[in-house]
Amino acid sequence: MESLFLDGYRIDNIEIYTPAAKLLAFWHVHALGFELAAKKEPKSGREGICSYLLTSGDIRLVLTSSYPVRGSLVANEIASFILGNSSGVKRVVLAVSSVKDTFNRCIAKGAIPIRFPGIEEDDDGYVEEAAIKLFDNSELVFINRDNFKGSFRPGYTASGANFSREAALLSSVDHIAGEVRMNECDYWTKYLSASIGTQLVQQIGRSSENQSGMLLNINQSGDKNLTIVIAQPASNQGSSKVQQNIDAFGPGIHHLAFSACDIHAAIASFRERGVDFVGVPASYYQLLRQNDAFRNFDIDALEAAGILIDKEGDSYLLQKFIKPMSDRPFFLYEIVQRINGYSGFALGNINVLKKAEEIEIMKANT
Ligand SMILES: [Fe+2]
Repeated sequence: MESLFLDGYRIDNIEIYTPAAKLLAFWHVHALGFELAAKKEPKSGREGICSYLLTSGDIRLVLTSSYPVRGSLVANEIASFILGNSSGVKRVVLAVSSVKDTFNRCIAKGAIPIRFPGIEEDDDGYVEEAAIKLFDNSELVFINRDNFKGSFRPGYTASGANFSREAALLSSVDHIAGEVRMNECDYWTKYLSASIGTQLVQQIGRSSENQSGMLLNINQSGDKNLTIVIAQPASNQGSSKVQQNIDAFGPGIHHLAFSACDIHAAIASFRERGVDFVGVPASYYQLLRQNDAFRNFDIDALEAAGILIDKEGDSYLLQKFIKPMSDRPFFLYEIVQRINGYSGFALGNINVLKKAEEIEIMKANT
C-alpha cells in the first residue's frame, strides 16, 4: 500500500482534555519532568478555554480545559467531552506536508470527516488543519505549520517560565493504545490502514497462548513513527479487563506509552516526586525466578522498581504503568524501554501477570 508518510511524517502533538489543565500541567512539570513550553490563556478571561503545551524530549502534549463563562458557548465541546471522559486524549495530531491532499485522500478511502481543511491565524501567520474520526470521541488531526512563525500555534505565547530541568526522562511516544468493543478491533484496523496507511504489523488473536482475555491489533506507520495498539475483549464469556473498562467507562484511548532511555532512573526520579505506580503482585517476580529464560536477569532489582519484563530472544521490553492521572481510573501513562530492538507488545508478560494475579487471588482465599 502506498504510504502517506513518506514525506517526513511525525506525531506533532497529542491533545488531552482535562477538567483542570493548569493543575495537571503542574503535575507533568514537577512530577514527570516535562517543561512548560507555551500556553494559551484567554486575554479577557471570558473565552473560557486554556491550553498548556508541555514538552519532554520529542513528546509534545497539549492539556486543555474549559471553564464556564456566562454567555459563552465556545467551551461546550470541551465541557461535553470532559463530562463523558474526564481526562482523556481528544486529538492525535500528525504533521503533514499538505493538509488538503492528506485529508482528501483519507476521505476518499473511507475516513470519517470531523473538520474540513481550514486555517487558524494570528499576527505570526497561520496553521492549516483538518481532522478525521478516531474511535468514539477522539480525532486524528493533520496539521501543517509551515506558514506560522510564532510559538506553537496561533494564540499561544512562550511560557517565559524557566524550568531548567535535567535531561528529559521521557523521550518519545512509543505507542497509543485504545480499547474498543468486541468486533471493533478489525474495523478500526482497516479504517486506519485505508485512511492513513498504517499496517497491521502484529496481531494477538485467540489461541491457547493468549490468556490475556483480550485480542490485540498493532498498527504501525511504515516509518514506525506512529503505533496504535487496539485491544478488544476476547469473548463475551468470562471476565475481560477490557470489557470491564468499556462497561464502566466506554471505549477510547486507554493509555499513552512513552519511551525512557533509562527506565530505572525515570522511575526513581518519579517516585521521589510522589508519582504513584500501578502495583505488581509479588507472585509475578516468583514466576520470573522460576523461568529459565530470565536466569541472567536481576529479578530483585526489577521487583524493587516494580518493573515488568517481556523477552523475545536477546531483546526485551521493560515497562511500568503510572496510576491514572485523574480520579476516573481509565486513562493512564505507560513507561517503556526497548532493549536490543525488542519490537513486541508484551503478550508473554500479560500472560505471566494474569497468572500471578490468579495466584494472588488463590492465596487470599486460602
Ligand atoms: Fe501499552
